[in-house]
Amino acid sequence: MFGRRGTTQGRAEQGGQIPAPVMPQAEPAPVAAAAPSPAPAAPEPVQKAAPPPPPAPEPAPAKEKNNEYYQTKAQIFNALVEAIDLSQLGRLDADEARDEIRDVINDIISLKNLVMSISEQEDLLEDICNDVLGYGPLEPLLARDDIADIMVNGAHTVYIETLGKTNITNIKFRDNAQLMNICQRIVSQVGRRVDDSSPICDARLPDGSRVNVIAPPLSIDGPALTIRKFKKDKLTLDQLVRFGAITPEGAAVLQIIGRSRCNVLISGGTGSGKTTLLNCLTAYIESDERIITCEDSAELQLQQPHVVRLETRPPNIEGEGQITMTDLVKNCLRMRPERIIVGEVRGSEAFDLLQAMNTGHDGSMGTLHANTPREALSRLESMITMGGFSLPSRTLREMICSSIDVIVQASRLRDGSRRITHITEVLGMEGDVIITQDLFLYEMMGEDANDKIIGRHRSTGIGRPKFWDKARYYGEEARLAQALDDAAVAD
Ligand SMILES: Nc1ncnc2c1ncn2[C@@H]1O[C@H](COP(=O)(O)OP(=O)(O)OP(=O)(O)O)[C@@H](O)[C@H]1O
Ligand SMILES: [Mg+2]
Repeated sequence: MFGRRGTTQGRAEQGGQIPAPVMPQAEPAPVAAAAPSPAPAAPEPVQKAAPPPPPAPEPAPAKEKNNEYYQTKAQIFNALVEAIDLSQLGRLDADEARDEIRDVINDIISLKNLVMSISEQEDLLEDICNDVLGYGPLEPLLARDDIADIMVNGAHTVYIETLGKTNITNIKFRDNAQLMNICQRIVSQVGRRVDDSSPICDARLPDGSRVNVIAPPLSIDGPALTIRKFKKDKLTLDQLVRFGAITPEGAAVLQIIGRSRCNVLISGGTGSGKTTLLNCLTAYIESDERIITCEDSAELQLQQPHVVRLETRPPNIEGEGQITMTDLVKNCLRMRPERIIVGEVRGSEAFDLLQAMNTGHDGSMGTLHANTPREALSRLESMITMGGFSLPSRTLREMICSSIDVIVQASRLRDGSRRITHITEVLGMEGDVIITQDLFLYEMMGEDANDKIIGRHRSTGIGRPKFWDKARYYGEEARLAQALDDAAVAD
């Protein structure tokens, strides 16, 4: 059998492509420090501040799994470590490695005469494989499609966001060392390292989920791991209508904005649905346009055939090789783009994006963190100023005015629901002030008995928005007029 051992003790510490998992109650061999064979250079988890192995079993994290289960698991795990060289499993593909572990565990169960039901045996096998090959206690959460975010605040506190609500789970890691081990495994897949000398790290799971790790000493109560789950099937505008994020009329206006090459800024707080909305708007871009997307972590899923996807790169361990969003946007301009889509504008690239919007790349779009459309405009201004461009503020505002056509505001309300709260046009300047005009608004009217917010979307009665001519050029003026008209609400 593959990787079978002759020796019995102390090999769990041996490095390899798969960092040795840390098991509940798996008492490390006392001679572990004197492990005989030279450890291959493997991304070793940082266990600097790891407490001594806890003598007592963890409190049962899941209702159906008691201490007995964990003791059996530890017993089997110890025997598994003695039986095979875990570091060698990295040479197999995931299915082969799983089969190998399955065989050995079945042998161990029968050799030790352990009594357990088939389903207990399957559970145990799954758990051990997750620890050895995967992301340990995170696996069941990663397998769920209904989770938007996983937030791990140290070993014993794991929150998830489902349906807009954040709830604590009963998932626990044995200790911070196990959590750190898993963080290390995640980031090493994209060639990065997280430890006390580089304690902040962005990475991506193989499925595209966005990951951030911040480790001690910066995060005080143990490593903090945040995962934005990647949704294979991104929400569509129709689904947003079904969820009540926008009305069908509002969605029609957004479609027209997307199609008729308006320059759009999507503004919103963290997790308010900006990227989702940007993805929805790009669906209405004509299929013959050349689109270039620039993102920190590729999340957008454009349906058009002619798309070039670009991604920024963080500096390497020596602090070199960084490619910023500004570098990407600047480079874009030399790639003959028709539209430039920037995943998130957060720095001096704002200037380059505005210039692109102003110089024939109509229909460019980007998202930005702000709580209102007005705040989005002032954030844009301050990003440019902080980027070192010393333009008079009036010039800057004029540039913003002539670049941005529409701001769409996304919000996550206090009941967890996400709504598009504003579709706002940038009209021009009056003196030194940028003038905007709301086309669509979400009005909150109260709360129902279940604390759900009751509200309504309505148009503000503007019959001819500023982008009317653009819409007419694309033959959309009748539909635009109709949508705005239908959305008007009598007060
Ligand atoms: N209208 C909606 N209704 C329900 N869920 C939504 C809605 N819009 C977005 N979501 C979900 O909310 C999560 C966060 O969305 P998204 O990534 O678009 O937010 P974001 O504002 O870009 O976040 P960040 O600031 O972290 O980049 C995703 O899982 C997404 O599927
Ligand atoms: Mg986003």
